[in-house]
Amino acid sequence: MTPHVSDILLEALAANAAAVNDEMAHLLPVPDGPERRVHDAMRYSALDGGKRLRPFLTVQAASLFNVSPAAALRVGCALEMVHCYSLIHDDLPCMDDDDLRRGRPTCHRQFDEATALLAGDALQSRAFEVLAAESTHPDPAVRCELVWQLAHAAGGMGMVGGQMVDLQAAQLTMDMADITRLQQMKTGRLIGFACEAGAILGKAPSSLRLALKNYAHDLGLAFQIADDLLDVQGDEMQVGKKLGKDADAGKATFVSLLGVEHARAQADMLAEQACRHLDPFGDAAHLLRLTARYVVTRSV
Ligand code: IPE
Ligand code: IPE
Ligand code: MG
Ligand code: MG
Ligand code: MG
Repeated sequence: MTPHVSDILLEALAANAAAVNDEMAHLLPVPDGPERRVHDAMRYSALDGGKRLRPFLTVQAASLFNVSPAAALRVGCALEMVHCYSLIHDDLPCMDDDDLRRGRPTCHRQFDEATALLAGDALQSRAFEVLAAESTHPDPAVRCELVWQLAHAAGGMGMVGGQMVDLQAAQLTMDMADITRLQQMKTGRLIGFACEAGAILGKAPSSLRLALKNYAHDLGLAFQIADDLLDVQGDEMQVGKKLGKDADAGKATFVSLLGVEHARAQADMLAEQACRHLDPFGDAAHLLRLTARYVVTRSV
């Protein structure tokens, strides 16, 4: 019997999650000495959990350009380290003050605030160390571009900038354009890097790199609308984090502005639009198309 298409994707995601976990465990060794505590905290937050969507996107995008899967996995893991750092800091009492992440106590709950802060910092540094290492790509220009693009996506003009706006969101009057910009920075930029990294590794022609960038743009927005919908409608046990936080905080989101039905329709439309950008890749982008659909139908 031919498995259902979504089963194909779920199997691929599960295989990717296992590979990401092994590689992250290898990239995050634990030294002896009293500094060990921060390494334990890094591993606590970076291993054994999460959908691992960003590294999956990198590996899939890289496969379109015959990049070595091992190199793509390394880059995906570096990105996942930045993502994990962003989640550790996002959960801190000075930000969202959350106790639960990926179904387990948040890093500062399991360890303490100072250790969580340092674990986030060190995961970020380690990510760039991994990207800059020769084993990531033989061409230094490629490594340099990966470092540059991830720094740009993660920094004050990207994820961190989006987090800053997000912290003020409850006090600001925000319309659709403001929220789209906020989400594009907060979530979209790292998802954008996930896809573009595949093209950078493969030294792809600019037209194909742009196609992937466009796909990631729509996918990132669809992904964040789904996160907002889960915050309203999700099952806390399944999602593994506290829900209802956006409404409690009085934060404008796609869902508060559009309502549940329209937000869902918008997410579906964006997923469809994301897929259209993949036309130049034909059947090779099959899993990336399935990913766009998965992102808006996920319950985790
Ligand atoms: C959660 O990201 C934070 C957002 C950017 C919305 P994910 O939904 O990808 O979280 P994990 O990595 O699967 O836990
Ligand atoms: C956080 O957004 C996005 C990051 C950059 C970490 P949220 O605060 O909405 O993420 P969750 O809902 O806690 O995962
Ligand atoms: Mg937050
Ligand atoms: Mg949060
Ligand atoms: Mg959220």
